[in-house]
Amino acid sequence: MNASPTRDFVRIVEVGPRDGLQNEKVDIGTAAKIELIDRLSQTGLASIEATAFVSPKWVPQMADAAQVLAGITRASGVAYPVLVPNEAGYDRARAAGAQEVAVFTAASETFNRKNTNAGIDESMARFAPVLVRAQTDGVKVRGYVSTVLGCPYQGDVPLADVVRVAKALHAMGCYEVSLGDTIGVGTPHKARAMLEAVAAEVPMTALAIHFHDTYGQALANVLACLEAGVRVVDSAVSGAGGCPYAKGASGNVASEDVVYMLHGLGIHTGIDLAQLAETGRWLAGLLGRESGSKVGKALGAQ
Ligand code: HMG
Ligand code: MG
Repeated sequence: MNASPTRDFVRIVEVGPRDGLQNEKVDIGTAAKIELIDRLSQTGLASIEATAFVSPKWVPQMADAAQVLAGITRASGVAYPVLVPNEAGYDRARAAGAQEVAVFTAASETFNRKNTNAGIDESMARFAPVLVRAQTDGVKVRGYVSTVLGCPYQGDVPLADVVRVAKALHAMGCYEVSLGDTIGVGTPHKARAMLEAVAAEVPMTALAIHFHDTYGQALANVLACLEAGVRVVDSAVSGAGGCPYAKGASGNVASEDVVYMLHGLGIHTGIDLAQLAETGRWLAGLLGRESGSKVGKALGAQ
């Protein structure tokens, strides 16, 4: 890839506090979640997905969303998007001071039903009032499409379905649509082909990629998509997480590994890698396991 060191920049959307912690067995507690976000805020990250205003019956790990959002120290220039599945979630998020939200659906009908108790079109209908209110309130909305490279229930997911859903989210007013390989089954050429198919209908500048590392392909998939032109990458510090409605899905690609690769390619991120890796090792300690980032472990051994 021909990176121009003066111009090439990738924005990392750190999803560890939400996507990471929503599926960790160890509950680190509200105070530690707040400390995690505050530590991440000092690393140069521009976007940190803080929590999810979803039903606590469905995802108990996110039941303290309001306390987390109220407790963090917002750094200037950092966005703290939160997940909302419906208008009730939007109300809770706004009451807690959210300035940016993310709505989520899937390219696979079955996955979406398991994840949100609604079909894809039904979940879109739930987002419609959220998007309208967000526009009035000056709140930015990000959109997620899950299962873009495979579904735990349906298997292969037709590209046309990914494109249809991504296009619909963008048309509804999502400023960015994140394409999620929820169960981490994708491989680089398939990932690139999927991204390119979506980018034929939605501007590349409005797309992000979101890889889980179940089969160890996430970093290779990120590279393939960078080569196709995407410039926003979701990742989780320490490779935390999974998905409660996708059995066997492992954590997101580790932020430290993505940042190390990007810097090695001469691409700027604005992130202090040493500080990020330190935060990842601290989180791994709280979770009672090794860092899920090879870079984090290597830097910690020096
Ligand atoms: P439902 O049970 O069909 O909802 O759940 P409902 O509207 O029938 O309401 C049932 C109860 O939930 C009611 O309470 C509501 O008030 C309450 P009750 O009367 O029984 O006491 N309720 C809520 N409470 C708090 N916050 C809310 C809310 N909405 C309703 N927002 C629902 C439907 C969508 C709410 C549920 O299925 C849900 O919360 N699902 C979220 C699942 C989730 O968070 N999954 C993980 C995130 S997605 C992901 O990880 C993928 C991603 O990372 C990308 C990728 O990797 O692919 C983004
Ligand atoms: Mg995810």
